[in-house]
Amino acid sequence: MKTVLVTGGAGFIGSNFVRYMLRVEPAVKIINLDALTYAGTLENLKTLPGADRHVFVQGDICDRALVDKLLREHTVDTIAHFAAESHVDRSIHGPGLFVQTNIVGTQVMLDAARQAWLVDKIVEPAVARFHHVSTDEVFGSLKPKDPAFTETTHYDPSSPYSASKAASDHLVRAYARTYGLPVTITNCSNNYGPHQFPEKLIPLMILNGINGRPLPVYGDGQQIRDWLYVEDHCEAIRAILKNGRVGETYNIGGDNQPPNLDIVHGICALLDELLPTSPHRPHTSLIQHVTDRPGHDRRYAMNITKVKAELGWTPRHSLQTGLRATVQWYLDHPEWVAAIQQQAGYQQWIDRNYAKRGGK
Ligand code: NAD
Ligand code: TYD
Repeated sequence: MKTVLVTGGAGFIGSNFVRYMLRVEPAVKIINLDALTYAGTLENLKTLPGADRHVFVQGDICDRALVDKLLREHTVDTIAHFAAESHVDRSIHGPGLFVQTNIVGTQVMLDAARQAWLVDKIVEPAVARFHHVSTDEVFGSLKPKDPAFTETTHYDPSSPYSASKAASDHLVRAYARTYGLPVTITNCSNNYGPHQFPEKLIPLMILNGINGRPLPVYGDGQQIRDWLYVEDHCEAIRAILKNGRVGETYNIGGDNQPPNLDIVHGICALLDELLPTSPHRPHTSLIQHVTDRPGHDRRYAMNITKVKAELGWTPRHSLQTGLRATVQWYLDHPEWVAAIQQQAGYQQWIDRNYAKRGGK
């Protein structure tokens, strides 16, 4: 691994991965291809360690000529593919973009890699790797007593987002089986941590809580997610790039599964503690149950035995330490928050998603 093309490296997980890799891999060069949609921002790439080994390119993963050029110009041997439309609620409002970016975009990336590595051999195929970052949501929803998802659980996606990610996973496996493209896939649970766009549960609740706005809990709030601190995810991907078996899929998760309402209560308790003079204490008074998400998956849980056994990876952060670090990060970075919230379209999205939900 000498030169890594990271797609979506200005987004939440991608930018954390770029920062992490520049820090822990002092010989690696990163080419960062990102379209800077609403979810990507150069604010996430300020003060990078080893910034001279980072090249940012604004562009679309669906632009085949651009991807071809970048692979050759930089002799890319590794692709870490994060770029995607990633928010379930937005996929319900507008599924078409999810098909274009997540399915067509992934196919463009795969085909460009096939041409560069297997046909033109810009690097030896034996050292090349296409790593695809996917989600636990491809497996659908678990019933209360069902065992956690394993790598062989059948696909059963519920939302346009998860259906588009499922399709992209199938394309990655098809390129491996049909053409011999050296791939790995990770299906990961819900991430949280610094730089997450405040449309997702945890940053939305933190910022609404700080500002005394309602905390909109969908339905009864008893839906269950498996929360993973983002840096733990980055560490897992690096372990797989270095020592994962080509052609394999690995489930990544945080080994904890609290209901959403517990997460919101945890955030409220941290805000009460860290903002002792806030007029909004106790922050739990801001909680409002609102109309549920259509097709809302009830429960996700990841069995991470395979990655633990094969690669010795295990999450380092507990939910307690990770949530505390995350709340503190949002409190310490008001300039980042202001830049994101002033972005064109942010307030329109909040109005669009929440206006008709009402309180219950
Ligand atoms: P994000 O929405 O924060 O970031 C996505 C990034 O991709 C943005 O920077 C955006 O500008 C970029 N992008 C979108 N369309 C593009 C295009 N056509 N060309 C180039 N760049 C484009 O997403 P995230 O939360 O960082 O998720 C990253 C990846 O991880 C996604 O593939 C997602 O499906 C997967 N994933 C996310 C989670 C999670 O909890 N956030 C969990 C499991 C898997
Ligand atoms: P989210 O962060 O959107 O991730 P995902 O849908 O990919 O799991 O949502 C996490 C959980 O929180 C999910 O069960 C939906 C719920 N949720 C709310 O209750 N209120 C909100 O305002 C949001 C954004 C999510």
